[in-house]
Amino acid sequence: MRIGIVTESVPEETRVAATPATVGQLAKLGYDIAVESGAGARSSFPDEAYIAAGAEMVSAGQAWDCDIVLKVDAPTDSEIARLRAGSTIAGLLSPAQRPELLDTLAAQSVTALAMDAVPRISRAQSLDVLSSMTNIAGYRAVIEAAHEFGRFFTGQVTAAGKVPPAKVLVAGAGVAGLAAVGAASRLGAIVRATDSRPEVAEQVESVGGTYLPVEVAERMDSADGYAKATSEAYDRRAAELYTEQAREVDIIITTALIPGRAAPRLITAADIAVMRPGSVVVDMAAAQGGNVEGTVPGRKIVTDNGVTIIGYTDLAGRLPAQASQLYGTNLVNLMKLLTPGQDGLLVLDLEDPVQRGITVTHSGEKLWPPPPVQVSATPQAAPAAVAAPEPEQASTALGTRAKYALGVVGVAVLFAIIALAPAPLPQHFTVLMLAIVIGYYVIGKVHHALHTPLMSVTNAISGIIIVGAMLQLATDNVAIRVLAFAAVLVASINVFGGFAVTRRMLGMFSKG
Ligand code: NAI
Repeated sequence: MRIGIVTESVPEETRVAATPATVGQLAKLGYDIAVESGAGARSSFPDEAYIAAGAEMVSAGQAWDCDIVLKVDAPTDSEIARLRAGSTIAGLLSPAQRPELLDTLAAQSVTALAMDAVPRISRAQSLDVLSSMTNIAGYRAVIEAAHEFGRFFTGQVTAAGKVPPAKVLVAGAGVAGLAAVGAASRLGAIVRATDSRPEVAEQVESVGGTYLPVEVAERMDSADGYAKATSEAYDRRAAELYTEQAREVDIIITTALIPGRAAPRLITAADIAVMRPGSVVVDMAAAQGGNVEGTVPGRKIVTDNGVTIIGYTDLAGRLPAQASQLYGTNLVNLMKLLTPGQDGLLVLDLEDPVQRGITVTHSGEKLWPPPPVQVSATPQAAPAAVAAPEPEQASTALGTRAKYALGVVGVAVLFAIIALAPAPLPQHFTVLMLAIVIGYYVIGKVHHALHTPLMSVTNAISGIIIVGAMLQLATDNVAIRVLAFAAVLVASINVFGGFAVTRRMLGMFSKG
C-alpha cells in the first residue's frame, strides 16, 4: 500500500505528519511513501531529506490519491473530495466537536482515524498524540513565560549581588501541567502546582514541584485519569489559594481542563490585579474559554498593572521540528498496530478497543462515539471481605508465627544467661540489651538524611573512652599505658573524624 504525506492547508500550521526519520520507519513496515513536495518546509525538513530517507516526492493530487493519507489537522471539504473511496485518513479530527466533518468523511466512504481520540490507557500511550503534543506545549509555555519575564528563573549569587529564584505556580497537573512543572524546575525556579485530583501529588513532587492541596472534606480522585467537575466548597477554597499565590508568585501557568466542558475559571481579574508588575501568566486553556479572566485566545496582552497574559493556542507548533517528530512517531506506532504482518497491508481490527476508539468513520458509517474504555488512575479500593487467604498470605501468616516462636526462645535464652552467669555479667548484659532496644527505636525514628549527624553525635559519646584511657595513662604498667594510649588515639579519631564528616556533609547543603 502507498502512504501519502500531504502539505497542511491551515496557514498557521507549522507541523507535518512525517519527518525523514519516520518515513524510514514507515518504509520498514512495507509501505511505499509519497510526500507532497514542500510538505516539510515549515518544520525545516527539505525535500532532499525525505528522498534520502526513501520517499518519493509527488504533487498534491498524487499524495491525496494514496491508499492511506497521514495528516496533522482535519481535512477541509475540498480535501476530503480528493480522497479515494475506501482509503484511510489519520489526523486530528476533533470528532466530538465536529459531527459535520464525520458526516462528510462517511459520505466519502473513507476510514477516518482520529489521533486525538486515542484512549488514555497504558497500551495506547505510544500513539497518544494529545499527550505528546501537550507535553511539548507545557514545555513551550514555560519558555514563553521565561521570554516575557524580565528576570532569571534560577537563583544566583553574583559579584553584583544575590538574585532570588523565580516562583512559579502551575494550576492543573495533567500532561501539560507536569511538563511545565518539570521545565520550570529544571530552569531553577521554585515551582508549586495544584490540581483537583489529589492523586497527582506524587507526580508533581517527582518532577521537582511542591504540591499545594486544596483542603476540602471530599476527595476528588478520578476513575479514568480525567478530572470531574469540582464542588462549590472546593472552588471557594481554591479561589483563596489562588489569591494567596497570586500575591507571591512571578509566573502562573494554567492548564485546568475537564473533558467536554468549558475550561474552569481559576484566576480572576482581582488575582491578576494583586500580581507584581512584570509577572507573567500563561493560560494554556485559552482555546477552551480560558482559566484566566481577561485571556485573549491566540494573543499576548499586558494588563494595566503590567502583568503579561499569554493566550497562545499553538504552543506545540511553536516547536515545529520537535512536534512533527513526535507526531510522526505516534503515527508510526499507529501504523505498526495496523500492520500486524509488517507487509505494507493495513488491517483494521474493530474488536481492539484502541483501534475502535480512534475509528470515527468506516465503510460509509459513523462510528463515533466509541464504547467507553474504563481505566483507573487510582488504586481500586480493597474488597470488604476476603473469603480465603491466598497462598502468599498463608505463608506470611506462617512467617509471623515462626517469628513469635523465635522471639519466645530468644527471651528464654536471655533469662537463662542472666540467671546462670556469674556477677557482674548479668548486670552488664541487661544494660547492653536495654541499650540495643532503646537505640533501635531511637535511631529508627530519625530521618535517613540525619543519620550522619546522628552518628557523629553518638561517636562523641565515645569521648568517655578518652577520659577513662587518660586516667589509666598514669599507671606504671607499660602494657596498660600502651593500651591506654592506643585507646585515646582511636577514640579521638572517632570523635573528631565524625564531626569532620558531618561538617563536610552540611557544607554540601549550604548555598554559596
Ligand atoms: P489533562 O486532562 O491531562 O490535565 C488537565 C488537568 O486539569 C487535570 O489534571 C485535571 O485534574 C485538572 N483540573 C481540572 N479542573 C481543575 C480545577 N478546577 N482546578 C485544578 N485543576 C483542575 O489535560 P492536558 O492534556 O494537560 O491539557 C491541558 C490544557 O492545555 C487543555 O486545556 C488543552 O487544551 C491545553 N493545551 C493547550 C495548548 C496550547 O497551545 N495552548 C496545546 C496543548 C494543550
